[in-house]
Amino acid sequence: MLGRIIGRNATEIVFRYPYGEDVKIGEILVAEDEENDNLFFLRVVDLQYGQEGSEKWGYRTAGEMMLLDEMEQPYSMREKERRLFKIGICAPLGYIHDGKFRKPKAIPSHFSKVRRACRDDYKFLDKGGWDIEIGKLRSGESEVDVKVGIDGNLISHHIGIFATTGMGKSNLMRVFAASAMASGRYGLLIIDPHGEYYEGGEETKGLRHHPMAGHSLVVYSPHHLSGPHNTLKISAYEITVGDLQNIFSFTEAQRDALYALSSRFGKEWLVNLHDMENEELVDEFGRRIQDITFSVLKRRAERIMRSEIIHRDENVAVTDSILNNLKEGKVVLVDTSGLYEYEELLAGVVLARRVLSHNKNAYRDKEAFGKLPSVLITMEEAQRVLKADGIFAQIAREGRKFKVGLCAITQQPKLIKEELLSQFNTFFILGLADEGDRNIIKSSAKQDISKVEKEIQTLEAGEALITYPGAPFAIPAKIHWYDDYIKNFEGEGKEPVKFDEAFY
Ligand SMILES: Nc1ncnc2c1ncn2[C@@H]1O[C@H](COP(=O)(O)OP(=O)(O)OP(=O)(O)O)[C@@H](O)[C@H]1O
Ligand SMILES: [Mg+2]
Repeated sequence: MLGRIIGRNATEIVFRYPYGEDVKIGEILVAEDEENDNLFFLRVVDLQYGQEGSEKWGYRTAGEMMLLDEMEQPYSMREKERRLFKIGICAPLGYIHDGKFRKPKAIPSHFSKVRRACRDDYKFLDKGGWDIEIGKLRSGESEVDVKVGIDGNLISHHIGIFATTGMGKSNLMRVFAASAMASGRYGLLIIDPHGEYYEGGEETKGLRHHPMAGHSLVVYSPHHLSGPHNTLKISAYEITVGDLQNIFSFTEAQRDALYALSSRFGKEWLVNLHDMENEELVDEFGRRIQDITFSVLKRRAERIMRSEIIHRDENVAVTDSILNNLKEGKVVLVDTSGLYEYEELLAGVVLARRVLSHNKNAYRDKEAFGKLPSVLITMEEAQRVLKADGIFAQIAREGRKFKVGLCAITQQPKLIKEELLSQFNTFFILGLADEGDRNIIKSSAKQDISKVEKEIQTLEAGEALITYPGAPFAIPAKIHWYDDYIKNFEGEGKEPVKFDEAFY
């Protein structure tokens, strides 16, 4: 036993515990209300000092101790255990009655016993029905031997991963990918601008080291990698005017010209814009569009056509095979490291648009659609692409209907429009130092996290809170360390590595 309840109300439960005990913020405790046969779950949100006797007594005692310190004499205190204690302030998470978890609508009886929760107390969490394992339950800083994860059905309802730099976003994504590979039930598209997922880094292994990578991982990269991969190529003919608007900003005149080009030339608009002389273009459109407009657009087109990932051959494009990989429930890693930002974004935008439009088409045939796995598109630094009315915002708003989810990884959720953030149903909240970022998360999370502000501030790397609709409360978790986690899959999936030689 740790202590006993002394107050206070339905939103704040306070208990006394011995001064020598070390309770930590974020710990999960249970209060046993024997009278009503309820088991309350409490999350420690703050800690205070307590003493019997007046405040003056405390000042006086400290003063006396300091005097004795100066004289280098020992001090002793009578009945220390009774006079000194600590106070834990807790947010009630809910309670179990008749084996069912309920919202915190009651309070535990006076002086109910408080103790640390043990493995058996968490049985109700096992009924979560999740299939993508992420980590273990956490109580304060310690791991509890209960696995936690999320239900793959939540994929299309979008996922946000929020953390200050170095708090464990990429490791979490690797763990997510490891679980997705093992499940084979979801298509996961990871755009990797830092080139950190394939090989891993100094400290960690990469996705290629997953024992099931041979048949569950497909890799696309513009440059040579140490293992099997396909070359990332996008055809100039599959880039739309809308795609470019996701990446560059245009004046109204330029936008009009783009639409004119696209309606005149169809999918050849970009190649023609690039190949034709300025004068030719002006003539083509009956001099309605100024040559200055074309010359700005042509510079953009030149930049795109120069890119190593853009190909002039209509038949050399990997987007169709990526769509197929995703349909087969694979993890598709698109390594865009070393590319310019516009190239990385272009690849992401084209792929995201293709996935959404593919699934929209498929939606018409209910039976075929029913068989499609959900696809999750992962974007690092998602605030870059989630602000305008672009394809990612469109997916955030309507993706769930078409089984297309977004996973937004960002250090700065406050830069994402609140309306879009509220479309994200699952949040992985890791350590977030900035108050503005915490506030925006607080207002969009599907569980009340207003009381866990202190905990979010003090989370260490790899520690998280997970919120999603239907979770009993914001679930404290310790994310698996990828290198350790993938050891669980050893011996599974030794099939030969598959790759598409056509792209070498
Ligand atoms: N689950 C974990 N268990 C143990 N250590 C972890 C965990 N997650 C992260 N770390 C530690 O934190 C470091 C940074 O993790 P990671 O690269 O995933 O952070 P990040 O949020 O992606 O950072 P950045 O913003 O720089 O991309 C790791 O190298 C590791 O030392
Ligand atoms: Mg990272």
